[in-house]
Amino acid sequence: YANVLSMKDLSSGEVMNFIREAQQFKAGKQIELTRPVYAANLFFENSTRTHTSFEMAERKLGLNVVNFDPAHSSVNKGETMADTLKTLQAIGVDVVAMRDKHNEYYQELVDDRNIHVGIANGGDGSGEHPSQSLLDMMTIYEEFGFFEGLKVAIVGDLAHSRVARSNMEVLNKLGARVYFGGPKKWFDDRFQAFGTWMPVDDLVDEMDVMMFLRVQHERLDSKENANFTAAGYNAEFGLTPEREARMQEHAIIMHPAPVNRGVEIADELVECDRSRIFTQMQNGVFVRMAVMASLLRYKGLVEED
Ligand code: CP
Repeated sequence: YANVLSMKDLSSGEVMNFIREAQQFKAGKQIELTRPVYAANLFFENSTRTHTSFEMAERKLGLNVVNFDPAHSSVNKGETMADTLKTLQAIGVDVVAMRDKHNEYYQELVDDRNIHVGIANGGDGSGEHPSQSLLDMMTIYEEFGFFEGLKVAIVGDLAHSRVARSNMEVLNKLGARVYFGGPKKWFDDRFQAFGTWMPVDDLVDEMDVMMFLRVQHERLDSKENANFTAAGYNAEFGLTPEREARMQEHAIIMHPAPVNRGVEIADELVECDRSRIFTQMQNGVFVRMAVMASLLRYKGLVEED
């Protein structure tokens, strides 16, 4: 791929190809590069997992990682994102992973005919988070071996979640049955075509996957934050020990993290037996290897496997 930007661009077959290659990387597959290759990670919005796992993926593929620190970059002197990319391209960067708070920040970059670096979208505002979605799909596939008919609930701060938007789209394509939960005010028109809303007390009895989303306090207004209590949210919408005990034996818990412990999920359940939260993070490295490898192949930088 020239770029990996949105799950809307990927067919179910293409998603499965990413999952299968990520599984091969997890099993130890290596690729050979045609020349030294350089990557940079431009995270204009905070990140721990996505940033570090893209960097780990790049290093595992044998790429040279060029440090880019937004806080000390010339973006703070008013340089545009496009000129920043052209600068990195001029000094020899081949591929980048990026995150920004603006939805579809990447569009002006891919429309600019002078930008040729391959872009992996590491999250655009409340738009999409394709590499998170691919690692979520890999984790579900590893667990069940299929998607058709699986019942997956996406529960929590739907309104602000790029993970929800990427995942509802791809889960539908893969044949899973999507449900939603959490505060009903966050279940708006954008979600209704993809699945139905149910109270969390009903979801826990029926679902194969309970996927919780972080409450994004940084995107809530001051009144919403003032009215919020961790205990109140957890009791009404979150995973409590009582709800976890009612889940089917084979059912799993997921969360893209960071987790607000005691809010979306009771503290003691974050690392319980059915939690796959840290498996998701581990799989993130291998999925991002597959994403970066696809950008490198498009540029002819991988020796034929
Ligand atoms: N899941 C996720 O995107 O985490 P970070 O914000 O830490 O990258």
